[in-house]
Amino acid sequence: MKYESQKVAYWYILAALALFGIQVLGGLLAGWIYVSPNFLSELLPFNVIRMIHTNALIVWLLLGFFGAAYFLVPEESEREIWSPKLAYIQLVILLVGTLGAVGSYLVGIHGGREFLEQPLWVKFGILVAAVIFLVNISMTVLSGKRTAITNVLLMGLWLLSLLWIFAFINPENLSLDKMYWWFVVHLWVEATWELVMAAILAFLLLKLTGVDREVVEKWLYVIVATALFSGILGTGHHFYWIGLPGYWQWVGSIFSTFEVIPFFLMMSFAFVMVWKGRKNHPNKAALLWSLGSSTVAFFGAGVWGFLHTLHGVNFYSHGTQITAAHGHLAFYGAYVALNLAVFTYAMPMLRERAPYNQVLNMASFWLMTGGMAFMTFVLTFAGTIQTHMQRVVGEYYMDVQESLSVFYLMRFGAGAAVVIGALLFIYSTLVARRSEIIAPGSANPVPGE
Ligand code: HEM
Ligand code: HEM
Ligand SMILES: [Fe+2]
Repeated sequence: MKYESQKVAYWYILAALALFGIQVLGGLLAGWIYVSPNFLSELLPFNVIRMIHTNALIVWLLLGFFGAAYFLVPEESEREIWSPKLAYIQLVILLVGTLGAVGSYLVGIHGGREFLEQPLWVKFGILVAAVIFLVNISMTVLSGKRTAITNVLLMGLWLLSLLWIFAFINPENLSLDKMYWWFVVHLWVEATWELVMAAILAFLLLKLTGVDREVVEKWLYVIVATALFSGILGTGHHFYWIGLPGYWQWVGSIFSTFEVIPFFLMMSFAFVMVWKGRKNHPNKAALLWSLGSSTVAFFGAGVWGFLHTLHGVNFYSHGTQITAAHGHLAFYGAYVALNLAVFTYAMPMLRERAPYNQVLNMASFWLMTGGMAFMTFVLTFAGTIQTHMQRVVGEYYMDVQESLSVFYLMRFGAGAAVVIGALLFIYSTLVARRSEIIAPGSANPVPGE
């Protein structure tokens, strides 16, 4: 760690890890309700647990992105963060908002739009926190050295924050409501977050493989161009059946097919950099997470996304377990694993220790990734049967659900593996062996940085 203010990232990562734990435990609870439908139905209904599961996911991923930005921007810009104090105020606002949202959900107050259920005051809090963040990080970047990585990161973070405005626009007309809702949900994960992902991945690969910056930058620009070209009009794949004009069926099918390209490029980027790189970085676990993230993102977003994105297919599969299968693997690969890659890279430095407990960390990678892959397969089988029985044969929804119970049991098992993996990750990141503490004040615990 070269700059004192990078320490800010430590607190963001801690908060993110705490919410990560809550998120996967919430998922496991929701998964158990699929097996035993009346479980907790009075005390903590499924919809509340589901909101906590999905909202905690989004908030911790954002906290992770903010933390990653506060960690990597000083190194890239070669200066301290403009105002560490503002960064801490931003974190406090986000945490108060999170507690407020969870508290509201527990007593049944929510906005009802999936992922955007937060009460209005929490939405405003998030907006204020985003503005503080943008000012802080922009001031740092603009007065420091400019690099392609910080340019792309800044662009992604600005655009994703601007899209948050659509969370406030909730028209009476259900078609328009859905249209704006997708502006946030789709244009986050399939456009602006992709830019953030590409920038963070580029930073990690630069550090871990030691390839030339010019090579990294060329890849970065191509990934950004293809992500925006495909992802913006690709939003059309959510406009098929919500009452918008029919041409969206063609626009959405064609452009969302192109969305596979940036994910394929990110995977290729990671492997080519490792192949070309000469550096033998000691933090092998961070490299595993980086390669794993881009690979699983290609399968989860690219392959499982393409599976149901053509309107002829989506007509049958829309809103079935196929969607849930894709949602889990895509979010896990692209954004969960990427965040865990940054945490694995940054935490040893932030705690002034050598990369420790790498074996446990890598075991957590395989447990989580294996669990997620199994969950995805199981839900894909369940979704295929569901699509056929319900949409082709025309059986009743609940009758079909009844016949899928064995898959839901297996999904619970896969989820348990993910939860154990997540707890192992948290343990391996936060609990270090004493003997490996680096003497305070020594320049850097990682040789060759
Ligand atoms: C890091 C890991 C995880 C990620 C990224 C994740 C992500 C998500 C997302 C995005 C949704 C909304 C899906 C949609 O609308 O199609 C969701 C719902 C859900 N997740 Fe997870 N999840 C994770 C872990 C788990 C675990 C461990 C379980 C345990 C079984 C689980 C069970 C569920 C259930 C039951 C739902 C509700 C599905 C429904 O409404 O039908 N998740 N999760
Ligand atoms: C990392 C990137 C991605 C993430 C995190 C992601 C996540 C999700 C989630 C959570 C949903 C469920 C939303 C809901 O109904 O509540 C969804 C739906 C969908 N995704 Fe993705 N996705 C990604 C990339 C892609 C890509 C690249 C494609 C196409 C090639 C794609 C195609 C679709 C389609 C067609 C649906 C609608 C499914 C339906 O009709 O029920 N996704 N995605
Ligand atoms: Fe989408």
